[in-house]
Amino acid sequence: MSHLVAPSLLSANFLNLEKDIAMLNQSEADWLHLDVMDGMFVPNISFGFSIIETIRKATDKPLDVHLMIEEPERYLERFRKAGADIISIHMEASKDPVSALRAIKKLNAKAGIVINPATPVDVLSDVIREADMVLLMSVNPGFGGQSFIQQTFQKIITLKTMITNLDLQVLIEVDGGVDLHNAAPLIKSGVDILVAGNTIFSSENPHQTIHQLKSIR
Ligand code: DX5
Ligand code: ZN
Repeated sequence: MSHLVAPSLLSANFLNLEKDIAMLNQSEADWLHLDVMDGMFVPNISFGFSIIETIRKATDKPLDVHLMIEEPERYLERFRKAGADIISIHMEASKDPVSALRAIKKLNAKAGIVINPATPVDVLSDVIREADMVLLMSVNPGFGGQSFIQQTFQKIITLKTMITNLDLQVLIEVDGGVDLHNAAPLIKSGVDILVAGNTIFSSENPHQTIHQLKSIR
């Protein structure tokens, strides 16, 4: 599978979301990455169900919903109903990630498990079998536009080894500080999905930047 690009709407223009989504619809973006923050798990609050429902009506592309919320198990069904196709929960935020991942799959969505930069890959060993995707945070979650944490590369190698040893088909997504310089080495190390917010939406030509991120081989 060639890699996917998932623009993060956190950096989009919320005053004119329709325009940005129309651009994404015409672009080579594979998924739309939506960051939900509760002001508890992370020191920021973003958006919730109604924005996701609105975005759902404006695009046919899969919605990749990244939940940065405490006890995400409380809201899985509502995010699915709002239009999420992929639902990712943080290992650090869930009391029972195995059950939560199973619940997501029961809702006919893809299930992702996320770890913060400070959380070692080893903690995934008991849950990875339940996941369709692992999301490695390459910045501390909460804000767009931060710089990429280089140690993420080591974690990708460790994660790749774990996936191979267990003979699984789990996808690897990286989120935070992805730019046109680190995208190529990330893909080379085995990343399947690149999330990018600032790099896309702060560029002069977001459509072209998505094309550039997609063209990396
Ligand atoms: C950070 C979010 C990211 C963020 C990425 O907490 O999970 O998805 O929008 O933004 P950039 O690509 O600007 O680092
Ligand atoms: Zn995210």
